[in-house]
Amino acid sequence: MFSKKVEAALNTQVKLEGYSSHIYLAMAVWAEGQGFEGVANFMYKHSDEERAHMLKLVKFMTERGSEATIPAIDQPPTQFSSLKELFTALLEHEMGVTQAINGLVHLTLGEQDYTTHNFLQWYVAEQIEEEALARTILDKLKIIGEESGSGIYMFDRDINGLVVTSANVDPVA
Ligand code: FEO
Repeated sequence: MFSKKVEAALNTQVKLEGYSSHIYLAMAVWAEGQGFEGVANFMYKHSDEERAHMLKLVKFMTERGSEATIPAIDQPPTQFSSLKELFTALLEHEMGVTQAINGLVHLTLGEQDYTTHNFLQWYVAEQIEEEALARTILDKLKIIGEESGSGIYMFDRDINGLVVTSANVDPVA
């Protein structure tokens, strides 16, 4: 069983991962509407990964005798002015998630919940990968410049090859 504080914080994280899935789904729909098929696929996959992150938390809580609260999910932004704005929003969102994970890790130490502390290390590693990927993508966009039609075409074609490697390692195990 968890302490009340750890249980509440895990539920907050369930909601944040669910919101992450939602925000990337909204980004996928926007990108598809703009004709960026590669970016849309990337975002659809990313949305699925975030759902897996949420599910991994839900299952961990169930295994330890606690029922996760499945939350209402807030409306994410649906409009973006450019790919740069889109990926900047992604990076900023992931930086916020990293902060939330760090806060959770800190709390588990204070509560002497070493099992949850250990479980959360997967998320710590994941956040490093996700932030690094977002920065790589933004760097590429900076090099291309948004006015270059052929550059953006190639960016959209190649983005399918960019994945978060750790997220693909059995995310719900
Ligand atoms: Fe589940 Fe992108 O953090």
